[in-house]
Amino acid sequence: MEILFLGSELLRQKAERIKDIDTDIKKIAEELIETMHNGKGIGLAGPQVGLMKRIFAVHVDKDVPRIFINPSIIETSQELVKYEEGCLSIPGVWAEVSRPKALKIQAWNEKGRPFTLEAAGILARAILHEYDHLEGTLFFDRLPELKRTKLIAKFEKVRSKQQVQG
Ligand code: NI
Repeated sequence: MEILFLGSELLRQKAERIKDIDTDIKKIAEELIETMHNGKGIGLAGPQVGLMKRIFAVHVDKDVPRIFINPSIIETSQELVKYEEGCLSIPGVWAEVSRPKALKIQAWNEKGRPFTLEAAGILARAILHEYDHLEGTLFFDRLPELKRTKLIAKFEKVRSKQQVQG
């Protein structure tokens, strides 16, 4: 799978619910995890690879890779925490983003089994970041406008340098 970068319209669109969790979805889930690992990311959502479906993968340290299909965030903690985030679709750019510390999520896995998960810390962080991708939201949308503008400028600078280097 090819990761789309900032500038792609698809990153700004809402993903659609998956109707059948079949063998195709199983294969997509495997490829999502593989692409996430290759990119050394801790999460990757369908829209980031041009797949406008409600699916994402998350793999944080000391945990197994997890697939979330048609997720619903049931609860989030009142308490917010700041943590530095990056995104495989916006390489080279990092910023501290404030988000709920913990959450409860319901979803289906790649085998079609429903599950509910309570998460905190980095796992909750990754889930919220990936869930945003299903809504067409990027992490810097959660920052003040001036900060966002600066980040976009930085990203463009990094990209143009990479293109010069080939
Ligand atoms: Ni991302």
